[in-house]
Amino acid sequence: MSNLRIAVQKSGRLNEDSMGILKDIGISIDNGIDQLKASARNFPVEVFYLRNGDIPQYLRDGVVDAAIIGENVLIEKGTDIDFVERLGFSKCKVSIAVPKESTANSLKDLAGQRIATSYPETVKKYLKQNNIDAQLHIINGSVEIAPNIGLADGICDIVSSGSTLFKNGLKEIEVLFKSEAVLAVSPKISQESKAILEKIQFRMQAVLKGKS
Ligand code: PRP
Ligand code: MG
Repeated sequence: MSNLRIAVQKSGRLNEDSMGILKDIGISIDNGIDQLKASARNFPVEVFYLRNGDIPQYLRDGVVDAAIIGENVLIEKGTDIDFVERLGFSKCKVSIAVPKESTANSLKDLAGQRIATSYPETVKKYLKQNNIDAQLHIINGSVEIAPNIGLADGICDIVSSGSTLFKNGLKEIEVLFKSEAVLAVSPKISQESKAILEKIQFRMQAVLKGKS
């Protein structure tokens, strides 16, 4: 019987809770020398530790069968990829924020202005939906600094506790959407792997029910 190949975030906010839910459903992972791939001892599962942003492509190509990933990453890079379960952790918002003193009250007010973000596809989609023209500055991290250094008039980024916005003198003016970790599936998953995934999903549902 072949293994189900499941991707989780290598390091970062999702990693700990992703490993936690696998543990909760009784899958124990041997974290061996080969840290980018590990097999479960008691279940036909292999875990791949990958960069968040790379996971949609791995799913698309069928290099992995499933993934625990933020819905926000799917919205940015994997709108063609389905998920079968919301996992209730890594909850956040993807929001537009501006300097405290700005008069902008919504994304619309940023028409003709500069928006810094690590989520260009997401922002483009919302701009298009609302018929707004704005200039995008793509930054990979520390996006909240952009308005302070004169690079942008507003930003679009993840808001969790709100502490990064606060520390950088920014205020949230519009929530584009809410996100949480989800169980995503490759469009190329085999019937055999799908059967294993269904078992995993079933166990996750039981764990999530127990927690709610
Ligand atoms: C993330 C995100 C926000 C912040 C939100 O950044 O890009 O900046 O966390 O969390 P908060 O609302 O609880 O402050 P991260 O710290 O991962 O660093 P990066 O943007 O440089 O990758
Ligand atoms: Mg950040």
